[in-house]
Amino acid sequence: MRSIGARLTFWYAFAATITFAILSLIGGVLLDTQLTHGLDELNAAEFRQLKAHIGDDYATLSRGSLERRLSGVNQYESVLFLISIHYPKTDEYLFNSSNLHGQRIPDVKGQRKFDAFTPDLGSLRVNEFLLPPYDVTVATSARAVDSSIRAYGETSAALIASMLLASIAIGLGLSRLVLRPMRAIRDTADRIGSDNLSERIPVGDVRDEVSDLAELLNRTFDRLESAFVQMRRFSEEVSHELKTPLSLIRLHAEEILRDGGGPHADAAIEQVDEIARLNRFIDQMLFLSRADADAIVFDLKPVDPSGFLESFAHDAGVLADDSGHVFTFVASDAGSVGMEFGWLRQVLLNVVTNAFKATPRGGRVCLTAHFAGSVWQVRIEDDGAGVAVAELDRMFERFVRLGGVDTPRGTGLGLTISRSIVRLHGGRIWAEPARRLRGLAIIVELPRVAALVTASDLEA
Ligand SMILES: Nc1ncnc2c1ncn2[C@@H]1O[C@H](COP(=O)(O)OP(=O)(O)OP(=O)(O)O)[C@@H](O)[C@H]1O
Ligand SMILES: [Mg+2]
Repeated sequence: MRSIGARLTFWYAFAATITFAILSLIGGVLLDTQLTHGLDELNAAEFRQLKAHIGDDYATLSRGSLERRLSGVNQYESVLFLISIHYPKTDEYLFNSSNLHGQRIPDVKGQRKFDAFTPDLGSLRVNEFLLPPYDVTVATSARAVDSSIRAYGETSAALIASMLLASIAIGLGLSRLVLRPMRAIRDTADRIGSDNLSERIPVGDVRDEVSDLAELLNRTFDRLESAFVQMRRFSEEVSHELKTPLSLIRLHAEEILRDGGGPHADAAIEQVDEIARLNRFIDQMLFLSRADADAIVFDLKPVDPSGFLESFAHDAGVLADDSGHVFTFVASDAGSVGMEFGWLRQVLLNVVTNAFKATPRGGRVCLTAHFAGSVWQVRIEDDGAGVAVAELDRMFERFVRLGGVDTPRGTGLGLTISRSIVRLHGGRIWAEPARRLRGLAIIVELPRVAALVTASDLEA
């Protein structure tokens, strides 16, 4: 049982039903004892009656006189009691009540009170009394006691079954009630991420272990948020600080190149390239810091994406020729989406460049776009080695570069930025194994204008 709720329900139902069953059993034993004691009392009263009938001089009486005195008893009490008197020394029976019809009352040696059963007489409660020199046995039917105990047993079994069902229902309700705050904690903690660090777990008025846990988690989230904000501020400030000296170095290098470069021309060219790369990296870091701080809002205008895609496909075709790949492009349907051309171009350019980097020379990269229901979907597939399923989501994280040492140098920020940009368009981007080609597929999905959702709407 993986769920705490199921375990709680099981143990609650088990404990409640077992307790009830034990109590029922004890009740049954007490009832049996009490009813049997009642029969013993009844038999004892009958013996007293018998004693009164035969008088104190019974020991001196002849057998005939004794029978005469007992004949009265025989008539009116034979409905309820079976009586026999016997002389233990000779084991001779002096008297047997007529309702015994010649049979003997069963005997258990060494016991004076016991239960007995014979097929003809049925279930009996037997008591033996001393009336020296005789032994008097008085028995009465225990059928009423037996049927009472049986009825009690049947009622108890029905009640135990009902108790089991009721306790399962109560257990389920209770566990749901107890686990509700835990579920609220889980759901909220699940929503809190790098893009949603300000949300907190609601803490109820009642002070208990769960509210303590919620407060503890909230304090952890506070620390996490402040560390995150500090980190963001740090990378933003560092990026800004680096921009000015980098511009100066670039200017110097360009100045050297303008003068012909002399013996340092190659070094200066390399320096300019490296500075361009660093500048790009700093711009990417700045973009991510600002996107994390919600400082970027796009002005999304409804447009038909076909013209934009055609122009992009033309550029991608030129890049493919340059890198020795085959680029194909298919777009169908017309419709409108809200987008900013420049930013979306950056996303597609990064995805297509990644595809070219991953695909061997001569391999294919294909881009298809179509409207499906309320979304516009762009799919870029390649003929590369693909990515392991476990890495499909991780490749969108910062600085994650999956390729080996042979892979062309990148910052590992391209897909992170692409995801930010697509989210700011109210859409989503993900990776999956390619269907038509052998490598990876990256899918960018934006809402149709009719169902346009902006990033700020998404967060609301
Ligand atoms: N089509 C693909 N096939 C195989 N691996 C891919 C593909 N696209 C991306 N990757 C892997 O995901 C990693 C992250 O990609 P991302 O675009 O974020 O960074 P990058 O391309 O290394 O650097 P940048 O885009 O900043 O220049 C890449 O380094 C690469 O290992
Ligand atoms: Mg890239």
